[in-house]
Amino acid sequence: MKRIAVLASGSGSNLQAIMDAIERRDITNAEVAVVISDRKNAYALERARQKSIPVKHQSSKNYQSREEYDRDLVTYLTEQQIDLVVLAGFMRLMTPHFVAAYPNRILNIHPSLLPAFPGAHSVRDALAYGVKVAGCTVHFVDEGMDTGPIILQEAVPVYDSDTEESLHERIHELEHRLYPRAIELWVQDKIKIEGRRCFIND
Ligand code: GAR
Repeated sequence: MKRIAVLASGSGSNLQAIMDAIERRDITNAEVAVVISDRKNAYALERARQKSIPVKHQSSKNYQSREEYDRDLVTYLTEQQIDLVVLAGFMRLMTPHFVAAYPNRILNIHPSLLPAFPGAHSVRDALAYGVKVAGCTVHFVDEGMDTGPIILQEAVPVYDSDTEESLHERIHELEHRLYPRAIELWVQDKIKIEGRRCFIND
């Protein structure tokens, strides 16, 4: 049984999709062992509590640097014997120390077709740029901002009537299908990485 830590800063709808996929057995031989947030009031923590999953709030206010924050996080995750770290709307850049502690064992979901529109406002940026197709990307995390090898990626149309909210909602629906699928592939050891390219043996 693989032990997953989900890190989330916000509403946690992706966390919900992952927990539901585990219940439905779309993800097998894995459990969400802990949900961690840098924000005390993140609804993600509430979603975890409702499923009796342990939660941890780790505020950045108690740390002088990102390095110190991540060192404590790695210590905690090691104690918890975590196999896979899943970033689900966790709005912090991971330090080299963190990435080195979990090589090819940190996943992230990002609401754009990377490498287009990395960063914290990708849906707004894509709309402002005028793209006609948007989407989401599940990728391994490396030391860069949304730069790691891509595992899965899918597109959605952008409509003239779209606002940031309506487009993000369409992307969210896609994320809720794509992220559990990528996690199941990782858990079943079906992702082979060669350089930047990921190959799925399904
Ligand atoms: C998701 O759309 C995710 O792709 C995005 O935050 C949202 C979290 O939603 N992540 C990033 O922008 C990372 N750069 P959720 O809290 O409802 O899962």
